[in-house]
Amino acid sequence: KNELPVAVTIFGAKGDLTRRKLIPALYNLYIENHLPPLFSIFCIDFLETESAAFKTDLLEGINEFSRSGQADPVKWKAFSSKIIYMKGDFQETTTFQNLKEKLVDFDKQNSQRSIRIFYLATAPRFIEVIADGLYQYTACNKDKQDRIVIEKPFGTDLDSAKKLNLFLLKRFTEKQLYRIDHYLGKETVQNILAFRFANNVFEPLWNNKYIDHVQISLAEQVGVGKRGGYYDSSGALRDMIQNHLLQLLCIVAMDCPGAYKAELIRDAKTKVLKYIRPFTSRDVFKNVIRAQYTEGTVNNQPVPGYRKEAQVLPDSSTETFVTAKLFIDNKRWRGVPFFIATGKALPRQVSVIVIQFKNSPNKIFKDDTVPNRLVISIQPELEISLLFENKVPGLEMKLQPVDMDFMYKDAYTGSLPEAYEALLLDVLEGDPTLFMRADQVEAAWKVVMPILDAWKKNPSKKLLFYPAGTWGPEAALKLIRPHAKKWFQLP
Ligand code: BG6
Repeated sequence: KNELPVAVTIFGAKGDLTRRKLIPALYNLYIENHLPPLFSIFCIDFLETESAAFKTDLLEGINEFSRSGQADPVKWKAFSSKIIYMKGDFQETTTFQNLKEKLVDFDKQNSQRSIRIFYLATAPRFIEVIADGLYQYTACNKDKQDRIVIEKPFGTDLDSAKKLNLFLLKRFTEKQLYRIDHYLGKETVQNILAFRFANNVFEPLWNNKYIDHVQISLAEQVGVGKRGGYYDSSGALRDMIQNHLLQLLCIVAMDCPGAYKAELIRDAKTKVLKYIRPFTSRDVFKNVIRAQYTEGTVNNQPVPGYRKEAQVLPDSSTETFVTAKLFIDNKRWRGVPFFIATGKALPRQVSVIVIQFKNSPNKIFKDDTVPNRLVISIQPELEISLLFENKVPGLEMKLQPVDMDFMYKDAYTGSLPEAYEALLLDVLEGDPTLFMRADQVEAAWKVVMPILDAWKKNPSKKLLFYPAGTWGPEAALKLIRPHAKKWFQLP
């Protein structure tokens, strides 16, 4: 456990992420004694704000979004005394000069050089200027204890991601860069590694001999809300597939790493991305379905059509829904289709991975029709279930599929740590296992580039529509039909 003092600096301190995720996560780490006794949180943004008002806003964020509920007044007082708001324009050198002075003062007070964490919770256009400021003022110059956390999106395509990597790696070492993908911090996602590699029941079957297909679906109820400005130039492919979905795919499909070690795990994951069969432009229009939501109702609430959302172009062809069929051309997976799906303004939030096994070879029962299916439910349900055929009790030999279920809520009490808590603690302890290495990010961009390119050339070709509150267009269903009855299958 780290006992060195820690100075966390958040750029973009007035933003949504800080209020909803970062401060609640740091607060929970604090109350559960995961932070060292000496720490400070320097919060930087360009807006003028009174320190007291800033802190009140953060407290409201905790009360609203933290899993631990309302903050304890005494603990909040102690925690918030460590938060320092600094007005600073990211484009001005004085911002970095001031910050450096504050960091040096902090070290002097503690008579020790602290661990420095710089969290870039800003719009992507500021990443380079902030990184350069930190570099010029030698604020992040100890490669063993100074770390930069970079939020997604990491670039907007392969070229920009490569350029950004080059830019950062000229100034810092790979070891100092923590490219975050918050899905990797989710408890149920981390558990997939344990489930796969600590249980010998499944791993021997985890290949094309026994598995018929795999589905990975991340369905969201929310529309784009206030994020139209960002989302309209991004779309579901960049926002969810390039990162979260492909990362889940890697965890499901990777080979067992030689040891539970960051680099070995990251190598094994990157290999999966490299073996994904590249999409030709013909594949794109055949095996990738894109769609956009139109007016509808989600959860009994009216939702405007995507093109009517704030900051979205009225003739936008940005996709809010994507399903795709892809193949991993290696020995383990050759011939097994992977179906991936994500969408906004769908009827329910469902993040689920389905491993569908092949039919049993000996069909000795006439009603043995349902193949085994393993369902790993990431959220909001936290469970793993296995569907198998069972004899219905009675005098007849009659079969019926039933579920064997493991539910977190039955097995464990208390709330699970939030993804950001797990990931921030890893940064603090210098563990990059759950973060994206430069080559991983680039390999993921390589997978989606042919799709982006084909869509760019043909902006509205085969762009489909679905009313908000439905499960997407019919064509998505057709894509998966030969293998499964529907998408987004719950246990
Ligand atoms: C973010 C995307 O990375 O993940 C959002 O930018 C999306 O569009 C969000 O809503 C989903 O995360 P979670 O943890 O709510 O499933």
